[in-house]
Amino acid sequence: TIVIIDFGGQYNQLIARRVREANVYCEVVPYSKTVDEIKALNPKGIIFTGGPNSVFDDDAPKVDSQVFELGIPILGICYGAQLMSMSLGGVVHHADTREYGVTDITLDTTGVLFDGIADKNQCLMSHTDKVYSLPDGFRVVAKTEDCPMAAFENAEKGFYGVQFHPEVNHTPFGKDMIKNFLYNVCKLSGDWTMSDYAKNYIEFAKNKIGDKKVLCALSGGVDSSVAAVLLYKAIGKQLTCIFVDHGLLRKDEGDQVEDIFTNQFDMNLVRVNCEDRFLDKLAGVSDPETKRKIIGEEFIRVFEQEAKKIGTVDYLVQGTIYPDVIESGAGDASVIKSHHNVGGLPDYVDFKEIIEPLRSLFKDEVRQLGMELGIPEYLVWRQPFPGPGLAIRCIGEITKDRLEILKDADAIFREEISRAGLDREINQYFAVLTNMRSVGVMGDERTYDYTIALRGVTTTDFMTGEWARIPYDILDIVSRRIVNEVSHVNRIVYDITSKPPATIEWE
Ligand code: XMP
Repeated sequence: TIVIIDFGGQYNQLIARRVREANVYCEVVPYSKTVDEIKALNPKGIIFTGGPNSVFDDDAPKVDSQVFELGIPILGICYGAQLMSMSLGGVVHHADTREYGVTDITLDTTGVLFDGIADKNQCLMSHTDKVYSLPDGFRVVAKTEDCPMAAFENAEKGFYGVQFHPEVNHTPFGKDMIKNFLYNVCKLSGDWTMSDYAKNYIEFAKNKIGDKKVLCALSGGVDSSVAAVLLYKAIGKQLTCIFVDHGLLRKDEGDQVEDIFTNQFDMNLVRVNCEDRFLDKLAGVSDPETKRKIIGEEFIRVFEQEAKKIGTVDYLVQGTIYPDVIESGAGDASVIKSHHNVGGLPDYVDFKEIIEPLRSLFKDEVRQLGMELGIPEYLVWRQPFPGPGLAIRCIGEITKDRLEILKDADAIFREEISRAGLDREINQYFAVLTNMRSVGVMGDERTYDYTIALRGVTTTDFMTGEWARIPYDILDIVSRRIVNEVSHVNRIVYDITSKPPATIEWE
């Protein structure tokens, strides 16, 4: 294990990903962990992240200085390097100018960190403070024009500091540098794989759960599906999955989910078909927030009803993933996002403990694990889908007929995007049924029908995003097919707003 001590830098999750990509398991922990807590994780190496503070701020985050006496190698990045230097007797100052951007760097490749890497290289710098004199026993192993101590080491102790950011793509040698630290300094073999993770977790879950009962809210999304299958492999039919089909899923999706989990995996699946119940509640409602509220509440009511039939369970499964739980070392309180699809559930279900099998995995690792477990690729690579489903893509009132139009149009769009091989490039894409009708002509007939809007975005975090530059030819095929194949649609538009100022969804 590598322990990454989080000082609040914006790239901290990236550091963890780089380590995992090198097939080494790691955990990100807040800087406030005590030395004993760190030791208990049995790390073979420690990484200090960057952070927004100055080491001499009064409230600058510090780590227990005994960490330098554990005999464990440490790599400090940016703030982490300054902190290491200062804690061991070096001198750090505010520089006159902030150094920011991609910078030429000269590496001393006799040092183990830069072994096998070209000496003339580039790196991303982003700092104001810098190290002016090194602690005893250290030597400089990289410099840039503005930063004569861009990297330093005390190889004997296994302490390394870099002022630049090796975790970002703008530092092309960064991945190799991190591997050098992991393999050559920490002597890790890089043999951590997803199949190990699965095997270990299944073993762990068998022991933990024994013959007890477990309940899972299955949405058909990637996370809950992978979590459910992983537990199924451990405890089989002691796991019951409740799948609330509110009728607001994409075309045929409910049947697909049922098919995979009951036919392919022989799981204990309770599919609750309650389209009518949801449509009744939503009748006449057009306000987006009211729609969301109704669906969220109704979802809980249905789940609660079904869970009551099952009675008390010992564990409730949640598909929480790592980015949802990473605790920020910069603040006092740890920031934990609730899982917004099933956020309210725990209050309504009679259970003893929550179990979160994906808690330490990133999204792409969850997908890898899903493939490892034999879940079909189309489910594992499914794009995100909002909890309220098509309700927030059906602008205005929701009726069965309008939902049918939307499902058909959306299915055509998705089919053509995947035929064009763009389904992994565009991170989210879907059709929206607008409440606008306009005049058209079909054959010799005047039509007065709905407008379908197509939406496609590229994004990494879904917090910001660009509208996807889908080739005109493909948009053309989609447009023709929808208008020809779906009744009551006579006009197609493509949404060319990015986020911000628009959101990804229309409601
Ligand atoms: P917006 O529209 O806010 O969406 O740009 C950002 C991402 O979040 C998804 N989304 C939701 N997911 N429950 C969810 O589970 C919701 O209520 C919800 N609303 C939006 C949206 O699809 C996009 O990926």
